[in-house]
Amino acid sequence: MKKRNEPANSSRRKFLKGVSTSIVGAYIVPPALKTKAQSISDEIIDSYEGKVKLSLKVNGKKYSKNVEPNITLAEFIRDELNLTGTKVVCNQGECGSCTVLLNGEAIYSCHLLALDADGGEIITIEDLEKNKQRSNLQKSFVENDGLQCGFCTPGQIMSAYALLTENSNPTDKEIKKGMSGNLCRCGAYPKIFDSVKAAVNK
Ligand code: FES
Ligand code: FES
Repeated sequence: MKKRNEPANSSRRKFLKGVSTSIVGAYIVPPALKTKAQSISDEIIDSYEGKVKLSLKVNGKKYSKNVEPNITLAEFIRDELNLTGTKVVCNQGECGSCTVLLNGEAIYSCHLLALDADGGEIITIEDLEKNKQRSNLQKSFVENDGLQCGFCTPGQIMSAYALLTENSNPTDKEIKKGMSGNLCRCGAYPKIFDSVKAAVNK
């Protein structure tokens, strides 16, 4: 099956790669320089294909990559950085499964072009386990059965994290409002609420 982000001209890309590699090879590049020469040829192909440079900080680490201008932030996080904890379900900004933090604010990463986040700071679910306070939120979901299939859970936890960062002692109403952008197909809402509430009480 064709991958959603596979460029329509992937065969042209392979062809160009072959041509550029053989051009590089024709000049008998010493082995030590081959890696550099290959990366230069990749850059030439990237600029030919209209890729643009994207620089982001994700979970405290800086990344700078040439990307297709039409990829979403979710696609960049999952496909380019291999951080697959961020889930894509509806892929149209409705369910909240792909929630990440951009400059401290919870956003739907499937609904934002990666380039629109250029220069920004992203936090994904993978970052939470590194921080004790944040991982308490994850533990709270486990201890309170705040999930069934678990597919919406990373997004739920990221929204809860954004909520608690902004307001460490939210009322029940504020919790419901703060979590209202995240849908759960399993209908685990009462337990999700209990999980956030228990994290607040801790
Ligand atoms: S996958 Fe992004 S909002 Fe549903
Ligand atoms: S736990 Fe299954 S979609 Fe929420």
